Amino acid sequence: HTVDVADALREAIRVVPDFPQPGVRFQDLAPVFARPDLVRRLAEAFDETFHGTYERIMAVEARGFVLGTALSALADRPLVLARKKGKLPGPVHRAEYVLEYGTATLEMQRDAVRPGDRLLVVDDVLATGGTLAAAAELVAAGGAHVAGFAVASTIAGLGGTESLAPAKVYSVLPAG
Ligand code: PRP
Repeated sequence: HTVDVADALREAIRVVPDFPQPGVRFQDLAPVFARPDLVRRLAEAFDETFHGTYERIMAVEARGFVLGTALSALADRPLVLARKKGKLPGPVHRAEYVLEYGTATLEMQRDAVRPGDRLLVVDDVLATGGTLAAAAELVAAGGAHVAGFAVASTIAGLGGTESLAPAKVYSVLPAG
């Protein structure tokens, strides 16, 4: 029989204590990305959860690009990139945020979304929620709507899911 996608994911994610800073438990998804079957099943789980509620996918740099691209190909929906500052040419929308470690700025090209579009925002890991909140700011700045947030894993105890309420947050691995 097939192993549940959450069980397979739990086994594949490598947790690295004190990386990139002391006290941070880094969730390394490289072993997941090395498993095309698992990436496909994650994308399928995302689409099953939000099917019919989104027109576009926003993927967050860098590891969100991997899962966002897989979902885009599976669901046949356009991909929008939320990139770190200074990477995108042309007029951009910009959102600053505080990360679990450090601060950063996300940008999106202004012509990447159409007003009224519903975007499913995809990333690998949800921690404090600062990154996804910034992504949601970009969506709103483009006159579009957040259909929800889809992540592979959520880090417990940082309030990320709550910080994004009332938006729907789907995490294949719940906080743990
Ligand atoms: C990590 C992770 C999420 C974010 C989650 O990315 O991939 O994007 O942190 O943290 P938060 O919920 O507290 O905002 P990171 O900033 O390390 O960037 P990378 O994917 O480019 O390595």
